[in-house]
Amino acid sequence: DLSSSVGGIPLVSCVYNASGPRTGSSAALSKIAASSAGAILTKSATLEAQNGNPQPRTWHAEDNKASMNSEGLPNSGIDYYIDSTTIQETLEACPNGTKKPYLVSISGKTLQDNLEMLDRIAKKISEGEPIAGVELNLACPNVIGKPIIAYDFDQMKDILSTISNKKHKFILGLKLPPYLDSKHLQQAAAIINDYSTLVSYVVCINTIGNALSVDEVSEAPFISSNNGLAGLSGPAVKYTALANVRQMRQQLKSEIDVVGVGGIETGTDAFLFLLCGASAVQVGTCHWKEGPQCFDRICTELQQLLNEKGYTSVQDCIGKLKSW
Ligand code: DHB
Repeated sequence: DLSSSVGGIPLVSCVYNASGPRTGSSAALSKIAASSAGAILTKSATLEAQNGNPQPRTWHAEDNKASMNSEGLPNSGIDYYIDSTTIQETLEACPNGTKKPYLVSISGKTLQDNLEMLDRIAKKISEGEPIAGVELNLACPNVIGKPIIAYDFDQMKDILSTISNKKHKFILGLKLPPYLDSKHLQQAAAIINDYSTLVSYVVCINTIGNALSVDEVSEAPFISSNNGLAGLSGPAVKYTALANVRQMRQQLKSEIDVVGVGGIETGTDAFLFLLCGASAVQVGTCHWKEGPQCFDRICTELQQLLNEKGYTSVQDCIGKLKSW
């Protein structure tokens, strides 16, 4: 039994997809729905559809230990992801007539855009659309000329305070960037704790922003946009992700859940995130490379590991990291 819950949303499995690769269309989302994934999370939407940055904008290391992207949020626009046809087509693919939580990720280019998208989501939910929650991305590193919002604490407070005044009723999660200084993480956690009635969960971590991969043959960056700078993902970020999940779990009020993401490829990886305090985990780069069958494999591996270790539930290992 791999069930868990995030921000009060029940999950049949604690493993689901990260926003990003293979999440842009109902066709892609349906494949996640049909797999063992415990939820379905969309690509981060902007107010209007957009194509993203010029190609090439992705790169995978030859040893598969790291990937990079500077996609620039290519997506079909918020109205597509909250449209009843998109949601229905996706949820119809869930196994044996079950319905998994459908989660919408948004990444507005301005506070105004985020507010508008949140209003549209709230309206759809009030009309009965089965949207289980919203993941607000405060961590996109790839919009040229825009900072990573959650590195700017004044802006972060401003966003949370403004949204909080709207008194929306849906479950809200925040996608956070990696914090590399514990003091910064503490500051972010303190702000989020001030809005614990608004924020039900956080997702740690987004890509490590503004990395650079260089091709020795062409002597140029592999990625063309943003001077070659791109978000780093895959196994290379796993240790940073574990540290962020662990510290967030220690700093945040207990009613705010933590979701772990960063370099998860195996059931063992997922288990380590649970120990560090994650209530669920997301898979991004591995899903990108392996496809949605990764959810079946990782779930099987995690269940096997829990059995071997004598854990009867996910709940029994969450936050149980031992100390020296
Ligand atoms: C994109 C957005 C992100 O939040 C991220 O971490 C990486 C890439 C994007 O589409 O550019």
